[in-house]
Order: sequence, then C-alpha cells, then structure tokens
Amino acid sequence: MSKEEHRIFHNGETMDEYESSLVFFVNGKKVVEDNIDPSWTLLQYLRTKLRLCGTKLGCAEGGCGACTVMVSKYHRAEDKVRHIPVNACLAPVCSMHGLAVTTVEGIGSVKTKLHPVQERIAKSHGSQCGFCTPGIVMSMYTLLRNMPKPSMEDLEVTFQGNLCRCTGYRPIIEAYKTFTEDWEKMRASKLTNGNGCGMGKDCCMLKDRKVELYSESEFVPYHESQEPIFPPELKLKDQWDKQSLHFKSKEISWFRPTNLMDLLKLKSKFPKAKIVVGNTEIGIETKFKHLTYPVLIQPSQITELEVLDITDEGLKVGAAVTLEALNECLKEQMKILPEWKTRVFKALVETLHYFGGKQTRSVACVGGNIITASPISDLNPIFMVAKIELELQSVDGSRRVLMDQNFFTGYRKTILNEDEILIGILLPFSEEYQYIHAHKQSRRRDDDIAIVNAAINVKFDEDSKKLKDISMAFGGLAPTTKLITNFSEVLGMEWLEDVLDKVYEVIMRELVLDSEAPGGMIAYRRALPLSFFLKTFIALKKELNMHEVDSRDLSAFKKLSFQTPKSSQVFQLVPEDQKDIDLVGRPINHVAAEMQATGEAIYFDDIPKIENEAYMAYVYSTKAFANIISIDASEALAMDGVVGFISAKDIKIGCNKFGPVVQDEEVFITKQVTCQYQMLGAIVANDQQIAQKAARKVAVDYEELHPVIVSIEDAIKHNSFYDKERKIECGDVDGVFETTRNIIKSNCRTGYQEHFYLETHGCLVVPKEVDDLEIYTSSQHHAEITDLVSRILNIPQNRIVTKIKRIGGGFGGKQSRGVPIAVTAAIAANKFRRPIRIMLDRDEDMASTGGRHPFFTKYKVAFNDYGKILAIDAELYANAGCSLDLSLEVMERAVLHIENAYKIENLRVIGKICRTNLPSNTAFRGFGAPQAMLAAETMIRNISEFVGKDPVDIAMKNLYREGDKTHYNQDMINCNLTRCLEQCVDSSNYHERKLSVQKFNKENRWKKRGISVVCTKYGVGFGVPFLEQAGALVNVYTDGSVLLTHSGVEMGQGLNTKMIQVASRVLKIPADMIYISEVSTDKVPNSSPSAASVGSDLNGVAVKKACEEIRMRLKPIINKNPKGEWKEWIKDAYFNRISLSATGYHYTPEITYDWDTNTGTPYNYFTYGVACTEVEVDCLTGDHQLLRTDIVMDLGASLNPAIDIGQIEGAFMQGYGLFTLEEMVYSPSGTVLSKGPGSYKIPGFGDIPIEFNVSLLEGVGNPKAVYSSKAVGEPPLFLASSALFAIREAMKSARLGQYMPPYFRLHAPATAEKIRMLCDDHITERIKKCENTWNVIP
Ligand SMILES: Cc1cc2nc3c(=O)[nH]c(=O)nc-3n(C[C@H](O)[C@H](O)[C@H](O)COP(=O)(O)OP(=O)(O)OC[C@H]3O[C@@H](n4cnc5c(N)ncnc54)[C@H](O)[C@@H]3O)c2cc1C
Ligand code: FES
Ligand code: FES
Repeated sequence: MSKEEHRIFHNGETMDEYESSLVFFVNGKKVVEDNIDPSWTLLQYLRTKLRLCGTKLGCAEGGCGACTVMVSKYHRAEDKVRHIPVNACLAPVCSMHGLAVTTVEGIGSVKTKLHPVQERIAKSHGSQCGFCTPGIVMSMYTLLRNMPKPSMEDLEVTFQGNLCRCTGYRPIIEAYKTFTEDWEKMRASKLTNGNGCGMGKDCCMLKDRKVELYSESEFVPYHESQEPIFPPELKLKDQWDKQSLHFKSKEISWFRPTNLMDLLKLKSKFPKAKIVVGNTEIGIETKFKHLTYPVLIQPSQITELEVLDITDEGLKVGAAVTLEALNECLKEQMKILPEWKTRVFKALVETLHYFGGKQTRSVACVGGNIITASPISDLNPIFMVAKIELELQSVDGSRRVLMDQNFFTGYRKTILNEDEILIGILLPFSEEYQYIHAHKQSRRRDDDIAIVNAAINVKFDEDSKKLKDISMAFGGLAPTTKLITNFSEVLGMEWLEDVLDKVYEVIMRELVLDSEAPGGMIAYRRALPLSFFLKTFIALKKELNMHEVDSRDLSAFKKLSFQTPKSSQVFQLVPEDQKDIDLVGRPINHVAAEMQATGEAIYFDDIPKIENEAYMAYVYSTKAFANIISIDASEALAMDGVVGFISAKDIKIGCNKFGPVVQDEEVFITKQVTCQYQMLGAIVANDQQIAQKAARKVAVDYEELHPVIVSIEDAIKHNSFYDKERKIECGDVDGVFETTRNIIKSNCRTGYQEHFYLETHGCLVVPKEVDDLEIYTSSQHHAEITDLVSRILNIPQNRIVTKIKRIGGGFGGKQSRGVPIAVTAAIAANKFRRPIRIMLDRDEDMASTGGRHPFFTKYKVAFNDYGKILAIDAELYANAGCSLDLSLEVMERAVLHIENAYKIENLRVIGKICRTNLPSNTAFRGFGAPQAMLAAETMIRNISEFVGKDPVDIAMKNLYREGDKTHYNQDMINCNLTRCLEQCVDSSNYHERKLSVQKFNKENRWKKRGISVVCTKYGVGFGVPFLEQAGALVNVYTDGSVLLTHSGVEMGQGLNTKMIQVASRVLKIPADMIYISEVSTDKVPNSSPSAASVGSDLNGVAVKKACEEIRMRLKPIINKNPKGEWKEWIKDAYFNRISLSATGYHYTPEITYDWDTNTGTPYNYFTYGVACTEVEVDCLTGDHQLLRTDIVMDLGASLNPAIDIGQIEGAFMQGYGLFTLEEMVYSPSGTVLSKGPGSYKIPGFGDIPIEFNVSLLEGVGNPKAVYSSKAVGEPPLFLASSALFAIREAMKSARLGQYMPPYFRLHAPATAEKIRMLCDDHITERIKKCENTWNVIP
C-alpha cells in the first residue's frame, strides 16, 4: 500500500493522516489501486480495468439495473456481513474502500458451474437478448444472500430497479418464484388441493404428457451454505474502516475523513465541496448535466451521521443513513411501538416502497434527499408536515432548525450555509389523534419520480373529534416542496363533506401553475392534490368511524398494488413418435441463455481494447432548424489527448448522403440542420472522457430558422409533407357513405415510442492492412454498413468485413439508424489509422436515433344497424421527422393494415408522411401496423356503442373468413381468426367476467374495472420483394462439428436457437454439435436486415437447404455404411474428397405488389391472434393495473414454443408500453426532454398482468414457412391495445357514474394524466381548461 501522506491544514491544525491507496475486494480477490481517478465509477473500473464485462452499461443513471453488483460490508458492531445491490454505474469506485464487490462472474460460469440463480433464469427462458440478465441475476443473488427463503413481496421489491425490454418479465418471475417460501407452500397445496391454474381444464398438469416450457424439478437445489465466504481479511482487520482517505486526480480530490471534526474542517476549507454518499444525485449531475465538483467528501465513517436511535421524542436519523436502513428501522419500530405513535413512520415506509429501486435505496441517504432540495423529493413533504428537526453543524458550532416553509429557499436550495453539514434529523412520533397520509403519483408505479406527491397531516381534538390542525406539503407543483398551513377556515369543523370544499379552495388558491411550468400536465397536476385530499378524507372518515361512509367510496383509498403473478402457457406437444434427437417444435432453451446469465456472452463493447484504440464522440446540433454559420473545433483540438476532428470535409464530395431507401440524409451536416442531435462532426480522442468533453467544446454558430415543426398538427398546419403518399381504394366508398345513415366520424392517435433496447448503439472499427476494415457493430443490418462504408470511403465491399455476434435488443431501432454510426467510425478509423470505438450514451441514443412514428388517423365509418361495417374512409398521418428513412415503408404497412382483422368491402385509405424537425423516425416492431390497426379497433368500439352491442359481437360480425380478399386483393388462406377469437373468449371466460366487472363497478365509485378483447392479423414479409432473401453457410469439420452461419442477427429473438433446431433436424445430429459463432459479411454476403419478423422464415429455409445439400453429398457414404455414425461418415467423406461446406439460399416466391393497380401479393401469409385484458383503474389518480390477460395466437406449428411464447409476452409488454405508459416529451422548439429511464418509463416488473395466460392454437400449420411455422416477432404487439380499450371501458363506467357522456376519445398512450382527466368528476370540474406550453406531443 502506498504510504503517501496528505496533510490537510485548517486554522493551523494538522488533521489525520490520509491514505491514498484504494483497497477493496472483487469476487474474493484483493484489488489495490494506488492511482485511482476519483471520477471513475465502479462500473468503469470493473469493465475497463478488471475486464469484468459481465456487468453491463445500460443507462449510467441508475435507472435500468443492468449494472447491478452485490456490495458486502462487515458491520463490526453487529458482527454481521450485510449485502446490498448496487448500481455500479453510479457508485464511485472510491466508495468501495474496505468493501467486497461480487459481480456476475463471481458466482458461476458456464465453464465451471452455474449458480442456481443463473441456471434458473436461463432454463426458464428468462433471457432473450441477455443484456439485462446479469443485472437481474445479481439483484436476485443479493436478495438470496440476505434472505435464503424470500417471500414474493421481497421479490417484488428486489426487481423494482431492473428493466428488461425483451421478455415481458413473466418467465423471470416464474424462475425466481421457485426460491420463495410462498412457492414451496403453493406447490404443497397444489399437490393436495388441485392445481388452481388459470387454464382450468386445459391445464397441462391434468394431461398425460405435461405441456411445460421447462421442468422446475430439474433445477439444481439452492444451498446458501455453498456461497463464497466474505473475504476474511476484511473481517479480521479493521484498518480499512479506520483509514482516512484522500484520492486525487488532476481535477478531483476525494476525501474520506473518519471523524466529525475532520469532516467539518474539510467542509470549512472547501465550502463548495459536495458530500457524497449514494452519489445518486451527484452522479447524475456530473454525467448528464456536466457539472464539475473538484472536491468530494465521503462521510461514511462518521458515526454521528450513521445514527438510528429511538429517543423520547422520536427517531434520530443520521444524515448518511441509507433509505433502506431507515426503512428497516422504521418497520421494526412499527412492530414495537403503539400504532398511533408511528403514523409518520408508516407514511415514510409506504413512500419508501415507491422510492427509486432497491439499488438506489440501498445507497442513497436521507441527507442527500433533503439537501438536494428537489421539488419532487418524496421524503421532504412528509418531513415538512411532520415538522422534523434538523441538526446542522460547522466548525463554528451547531444549530437546530425546523423543516418549515423557510427551509427551502429556492429551486434546489436550502438555508444551509456553505460550510455546514447536516448531521441528522429527529423524526417525531405522531400524536394519538394525528394522522399523516402520504401520496405519490408518477408515470409508472415502481422506480419513478413523482409527477406530484403530497403529505397530509390532520389533527383532531381529543374530546370533540373536531379538526384541530391541518397542514399539507406538496411536491411537483412549485420550485420547492410547498407547505400549506392556512386552513383556519376548517379548524373546529367536523370531518364531513363541508371540509372538502373549503380545503379544495385553499389548495386551488395556493397551488397555481403557469402554462409554461416545467413538467407540463398542468391540469392534471392541479387536480392531483385535490384527489389526494379526497382519498385522505374518505380514509379518515372510515378510520374515525364517527359518520357513515358510503361503501362505494371506500375504493378511493384502496391501493393498486403488486400481487403474486399467475400464468399459464399452452402449446402443442410434438408428435409422440418424433425422435428425441429431432428438436423442431420443442421448447428448447435459447442457445446462449447460460452464457448470458453468467455474463460470459460477448456484446461488441465487451471486446477488449485494441492496441492504440481511440474513442469517438459526436458534435451534435443543438438547434432544430438552423443554418450553420461556422463550426470551430480549435479549442477541442488543443486539449490533451485529442486525436482529431472529422466532419463533412472528410467525406468525398457527392458521397455524404445516406438513407436505407432514399438517400436524403447527410452523414455529417454541411449547411442546414433540420433537427436537434444531428451529427455535425466527431472528436476522436485517446479515451471516452476526453472525447466527450472535447466534443462539447466544439463551437457552432447558427442562424435560426422558422417555423420549427414538431407535431403532426404543426405539419398539417404548415403543409409540411414528404411528396410520397400512399393510397388504396376498393369498392364504392362514396356511394356507401351517400346511402348509409349510420356514419361515425372520429379520429385516433398514437404517440412516439422509444425502442429502449438495453444496449445502446455502437461499434468498433479496426483498420487492417492497407484499406481493409473490420467492423464490429450492434446493428440489425450489417450488410448495409459494409455497403455504405464502401461507397463513402471508396473501398470495395470485399475489403470491409462487418461482424455481429449478438446485440442487446434491436426492435427495429438498429435496422437503419446504426449505419451512420458505423460509417462515421469507419471514416475516423480510415483517417487516423487507429481502431475507433463508440457506444452512445443513453441520452444521446434516445435523443438522436428516432423511434416509432406517432400517427394521427382521421376516419369515417359507415355501418348497418347490426354493426356490419359497410365502408371506411381514412386518412393516416405519420410523424416521420427530418428525413424519410423507412417512413414510406412504415406508411405502406400502415395503409395495408388499416382494416386490422376485418373484412371491409369498401375502403379508402390515404397515408401522408409529415416532415418535422425531429430526429428521423424509423422501424419499430410492428412497423406502422399497430398505429393503423388501432383505428380499426377504435371503430369496432364506436360501432358497438352506437348499436348497443358487445364489441366482441361486432368483431365477430366483421372478422375475415377463409377465402375473403383484403382491400389490397390478397386472399385470406388458412384464416384462423374466428378460431382464435372463439378460443380466447372462451378460455378467458370473457362474458362471465364482464358481468363481474359490471358488479364491481356498481359497488365501487373510485375504482373501476374494464375488460376488452382485441383481434389482430399481421402480414408477414417485408412487402419489398428484393429484401425477401437469405443465405446460409454450413461448414462441417473433420471431427463432425458443424459451424453454421446465416444472414440473420441474433438480438434476443432466438433466431440462432431456431436455426440450430432446423439444422439439427436435417443433419440428424444433436444440437450441441452445431455452433453459430457470428454473422459476418465475409461468410454470407448481401444480407437483408434482420427485421419484419421473417428471420426464421427466410434463414430457416436457407439453412435447411444448405444442410440438405450436405446430407445429399453424404448419401453415397451413408449408403455404404448405413449403420455408421455421423462422425465416421464425415471422416469418410473427407477422405473421399467430398466438400463439407455448403451454402443455402432462399427467397420468398410470389411476393409482388403494385401500388398503382392495387394488385399482387405483398405478404407471404398472415399471423393471427386475439387477446382479452382486464384492468382496474384508479379514477382519482389515473393509475391502473393489469388484472389479467389471455392471449391465443395462431403460430402454425411452432418451431420452438418457448421462444415463441417469450416473443408473445415480450411484444405484449412492449405494446403495453406503447398504448399506455411510454410518452416522449418534446419542447416546442424540438428538444427531446425524455432522455433516459428516469424520465421515459418503459414497463417494469410490477406492470405485468397479475394473471397472464398464453395459448398457441393447436392443430394448425402454415405451408408458407419452414416446417409449417409462422413469424412471431411483431404480430403480438398490437394485442396490447386490449389494455387501452379495457382502460377505456373502465373510464366509461366512471363517466357514467358521474353522469358524463360515455363517448370520448382516449388517445394512446393512455397515461395516468389522460385517464384521470377524462374520468370527469367534481374535481376535474374545478380545474378550468389549463393551457400547457411547456411541451408538445409529436
Ligand atoms: C434511479 C434513481 C431513482 C430515484 N428515485 C427517487 C425517488 O423516487 N424519489 C426521490 O425523492 N428521489 C429519487 N431519486 C433522487 C435521489 O436518489 C435522492 O435524492 C437520494 O436521497 C440522494 O441521496 P444520495 O446519498 O445519493 O445523495 P448524493 O448524490 O450522494 O448527494 C446529494 C446532495 O446532498 C448533499 N449532501 C448529502 N449529505 C449531506 C449532508 N450530510 N450535509 C450536507 N449536504 C449533504 C450533497 O452535497 C449533494 O449535493 C432517485 C435517483 C436516482 C438516480
Ligand atoms: S447502467 Fe446502471 S442502472 Fe442502468
Ligand atoms: S433479455 Fe432483457 S433486455 Fe433483452
């Protein structure tokens, strides 16, 4: 250990000796670092220094959990080792001194032995792309280390901070349920009382041959005793606890004093120093707001700041106490103390449940939350109404202050003097007649910051039970937490309805929001405080038990909360006579699942740094529409470590254009920017930090232009369209509208959706000899990268090898938008002759790469009195952004899917593409179809409401039948829609449950339920003939092993697994003899993108043909030796000079479509499905919960039911995000305001349906695809609109209860804001129409 000493002087005094060596343990091994840079996170250290790349970078802001590791600390006083899950992306590596870190590599590996946590997620099909998997594994592992037999509630809490974009979470929960005590009990009761499965008589347990996706009985038992021990050195020696530390780099000093006086002296010497505990605020400020803090002080060793003591007045909490530690302590005290004394504690415990995720709560401290003084702090409202006392101290002395209206002095400011430290707080006990209620509403229930939060404190007179005191504090409504105490008008009143009105008036008066208030949602944010108060009002009325409460009102305060999920998966078993070796149709595991679970699976950024490698960072446009006057990189170029700058000047004239179809985008912008985050150039530097810092120093002068067009409405107003539009007309549309009396005119809208693949875009380009380049990328279209790099750099394609091993999710977002990233890196690699790496930060990725097109559909529908649709006239508008990209193709699919699953004789549809000043929108699972199909399903509801019939009856009346023709004249062949609908209605028990829903709604005023059924028909194929092709290469080696390569990218969809199943069937060899290493342009050239759900259809046949070729060549050898084995035949073939390498090629025949004549066949076939979803809505807040979803899909003869069901569940949850949760917020000037998981919410673990049943239609086939299977990736996504329509049903019931018209439009996404504001009641009536000028819906 280095003995360098740092003496800090304060007023002439010498402070303790400071050590400068960082010492901690990783996976049992001691790490000693003498030159640590205090700006480094633990994640950086693990990935770059220790090369432990299992821990992934998904967001760098603590919002996805991909970087979760376990941190263990020996608590000497208790003689106990405690383990916590930590987001390594935010944890400063310096804070690890004296601690033990365990990463995913430290618990098991494919080479040695998987840990049961890794094994179970892999075997239960809980890992698709695998990028989230190590983080989820480590969250679960940490839970087990603390609690070997957790409960389901423990599981719920554990996964609040982990996201997965692929699986839909169900399989992960199922896998990990098997560790719980509850599961053991349930299994025991199943054995004795029947199984209780949601599938009733269809349950697999009741059949002879079990329909199981995996067998839990094969799981290796978990024994906590086999866990690695805590490093004994850390236990035996306390030297690392006692050391005062000082780590120093050129820019940052990190201190860890060990006593309070030293801490105060340091703060006095460096008044601007930040006190760093969890780093969950400071980490975000430095990474994303680019703030610099030259001095950081870690107070973790100061006992005064770690206090948790019960006194006569309440609980003393040290400022550095973590939120988890506080939570545990409060829960303990609530068990011991009388209930009335702990009402503040209870409010805190309930709030902490929804505060961040477990990783955040495990490190973030109480003081950090208070001193950050965020206006949406969850704790400060409670602290304020509870009147906590704060102890502040500086070298000059200490003082005690109350947290009242004077404490917060402005946005993120408090009364603390610069040299003061918060030592701790006193949380008072509540009084016997005092009640404290806390409320929080956010976009997503778990791990989300509040839109508005509140704490309400009410005191009653002991004798009269009349109101004695009332105070409320609100977050999210002002620059600071806002305390309201002037309720004098109601004091002395009884707790009756009169109080409500008067309190509402005070709140309305005190909480005023301007139209431009940051955060938008003005009306909603004004309504929420009243709704919260109403909830408290009813809850207290019930609790006081002095006046009768209408039982229907009780639903106001019942919380929507996590419940143990149930599920079933039904699929057809392979025929009994199918040989064991033949894997087609069996639910085998994703071939890389185990490697993904152990962190051994490699993604492009896990490739070790190459000698002389440099990093590239973009200079982006900061204006949405402007001429570029100048770009000056001189300041950046002068920085140490900067290699150079590239821009359009580095591209040959005439070569600076790209685009997947029409080349209408510049790689680097030359003259005019048409959206923010366009690339103007890039800085290349020795490392990422320098490159990114230097890129921010490139000065760009603009001349701003107008108008900036953000929304579809803006585009219509300014007539801003691309000149391509698509139109189809069939039948006599005008004639029908002229002669029909039942006509509804309306519109519907879907919003922008961000792909949110867990692995962001990136690549590594390595220059080889002369001009050759090797490109490792995270793209879905490697061939296009080779093509464009070749064109731009004028290098033949045969010298550019683009490779992809796997990618961490794509969903269409990496189809065309990854290309410019690889191309610019190639330009840099070529110019500087150095390997170039770039991986977009999450905010760059979200702000620059585009997403799903928002759609606005205007329609007119004519129908008869029985609900039969006679004609549709529709206009579709898509927000394409600043370039065409794939927007025309997206619009084509939308136009071809406008009728969804229904036969419409007379139909006119026009699709217009809006040109706006947003990043170019692009492919996204479903490719325009879900947006258009929403219109058809909305029409079904319109008609059902008009004619007074159930939407299912209307759907059934209009459903396509065998032999029908679509509006583009394609024949419906093997049309199983009716079967799907009937089976779904039956298995979901729709009609009976609809009655129960009605009963529930009658009995509950503030919670309403809704149930809805949605059908889908999805055309499979690109719709573009030349893309419908794929190739495969099969190499058989002399030991019999087979290396298979095809043209599709593995991105979690299980393509490699399915291809191995196909190859194994044809070659008649076990799957483990077949290996797929990567896709690469030098093995299979000219690939189409891995998109349009056709990966296995196209590549499957190509693989089959290549394998058949091998079998054919082997025939003479086999005939000679029919009893021989594969390995012998291969040896023989080799010695007989038979080529053991074969290619296969396939194209889909008969795919053509002519838009001018509306003839041809755009799709190879259709995939069908139906879903039924039931929801419960909180009418006062707009929150909702999925109670149950049943899906039936026709996937032909599934190649792999486990993978296909995984795709259905994952697509459903992604669609659920599209239709209800995910909302990208833009400013009117075109700035993306949602730039990470903190502000953009994709569904989490807690959002899955409480019951989720998926069935694959049995006894069906499909002559159009390999082994009768069907495409699955995109088709199920639209089924999630069943949640939107179920919500709408619930809202209808709420509106009817308030005598509001049941007809209303609910545009997607059905966010809590929309739901609340459309559930009109006496509260929404008070909120006059509020203007919102802060944000724009694109
Ligand atoms: C993913 C994520 C989710 C989150 N969710 C929520 C949420 O649901 N609700 C919510 O309210 N917040 C949330 N936050 C914000 C944040 O977690 C909290 O504010 C947290 O309590 C901060 O604690 P910390 O220890 O990480 O603070 P740090 O980042 O370490 O420090 C924060 C600030 O507090 C100051 N400080 C800390 N201790 C002292 C002291 N003793 N004396 C003087 N100054 C001090 C520091 O100087 C610094 O300015 C979230 C943050 C993240 C990253
Ligand atoms: S990468 Fe750390 S939480 Fe997302
Ligand atoms: S498997 Fe979870 S993000 Fe892909």
